[in-house]
Amino acid sequence: MLRSIIICPDLELSESLQANLLDLGQVAVLKAVDKYPHAHELLRIVRTNGPQVIFLSLQQIDRALEVVKELEQSAPGVQFVAVSRTTDPQVLIDVMRVGIREFLSLPFNLQVVADSVTRLREALDKRPVVMHSTDLLFAFLPSKAGSGTSTIAVNAAIAMSRHLQDNKALLTDLDLNGGMIRFMLKLENEYSIVDAAEHSLAMDENLWPQLVTSVGNLDVLHAGRINPSFRLEGTHVRHLLDFARRNYKSICVDLSGNMEKFSLEIMLEAKKIFLVCTPEIPSLHLAREKYMFLKNIELGDRVSVLLNRCTKRNQVISPEQIENLLGMPVTMTFPNDYHGVHAALTAGRQVDPNSELGQHFQTLARTMLDSSHSGPSAATPAAAAKKKGLLDMFFKPAGGNRGGVPAPAGANPPK
Ligand SMILES: Nc1ncnc2c1ncn2[C@@H]1O[C@H](COP(=O)(O)OP(=O)(O)O)[C@@H](O)[C@H]1O
Ligand SMILES: [Mg+2]
Repeated sequence: MLRSIIICPDLELSESLQANLLDLGQVAVLKAVDKYPHAHELLRIVRTNGPQVIFLSLQQIDRALEVVKELEQSAPGVQFVAVSRTTDPQVLIDVMRVGIREFLSLPFNLQVVADSVTRLREALDKRPVVMHSTDLLFAFLPSKAGSGTSTIAVNAAIAMSRHLQDNKALLTDLDLNGGMIRFMLKLENEYSIVDAAEHSLAMDENLWPQLVTSVGNLDVLHAGRINPSFRLEGTHVRHLLDFARRNYKSICVDLSGNMEKFSLEIMLEAKKIFLVCTPEIPSLHLAREKYMFLKNIELGDRVSVLLNRCTKRNQVISPEQIENLLGMPVTMTFPNDYHGVHAALTAGRQVDPNSELGQHFQTLARTMLDSSHSGPSAATPAAAAKKKGLLDMFFKPAGGNRGGVPAPAGANPPK
């Protein structure tokens, strides 16, 4: 399906076009607006919907021209189809003036529309739409529940968002049955990831601001209440990610650590995976298991281990022993600060940025933003497809892998 929006003040014309596109079944109309939006509004609509095709009425030729000019800048490659009631010579001159090659007029003929769609598809294959989309996507993965992953994700996300001047960051809680972020930030929004997933296929720029809660420059989407019957589908996650990447400078995702299929899909797209553990044997052991698994699906190079709750006194295991157990170096350590974390939880805010732990969150936030200039980027389409293939192996229905838990590292699917 091609993704499209209609900009047409003539409601009858717009409805007739929508009916034809519905019959054709090859073009989804994500939004139909009956006014020519000004630059800012237009950008918002385009970022929300990510269209490939714009059906544009030429009723007000100057406004139509503005729309074309604006989108040639902000969404190069997007295809235009001029729509009009008539085929007056003047209309045809206007179509040429705006530089649009496709033109449809009343009465719409299904075959003519189909031919036009075929040409649009060819043009899009040759030159896909280029839309600003961030690759700063960070996944926070607990080695074991209780490692402090959500604590680090929340605090690093808030610290990071403070560095963004005109941009915003997004923090999403995807721990569907134990999400703590709502509680940690005392969020009262009744909407959650459940609603975002439900509307992900046709996100609306008026709905999204209602789903998230803004904490300064950070928008937060929480996981809602415990809801065992809710399943997050891969397609929903992909649409949400695409949406978030077009609309935010940076995205942090807090995962449960259960390695659900959707969380692997997110890690597949992530710039970095922060694997959080504590200096205790079970936590280190599980961190190694998860690291080996991620290495097997070729995601090892983007894993960074964050060692949380380190005490200087009473160290039972030495740093060398820890790295030996993990099988990889520790990227950063975070001090244990029971009081600091407790005070933050009680107030529903971040850990005091001036405390030692707070300073560590600042440092992590800076390295996250710095990674925009370095590190493995969120894969090229070809590399991503290969990794996706590896991932699918682990989730074959007959692959001896039940309940969404991935097969052990190194396991091969049965032939
Ligand atoms: N650095 C720290 N010092 C002290 N307590 C911490 C620290 N990090 C996390 N905690 C506490 O550990 C518990 C588990 O943290 P949480 O962030 O929910 O872990 P996870 O998301 O990995 O399950 C919480 O009670 C939290 O307040
Ligand atoms: Mg958590």
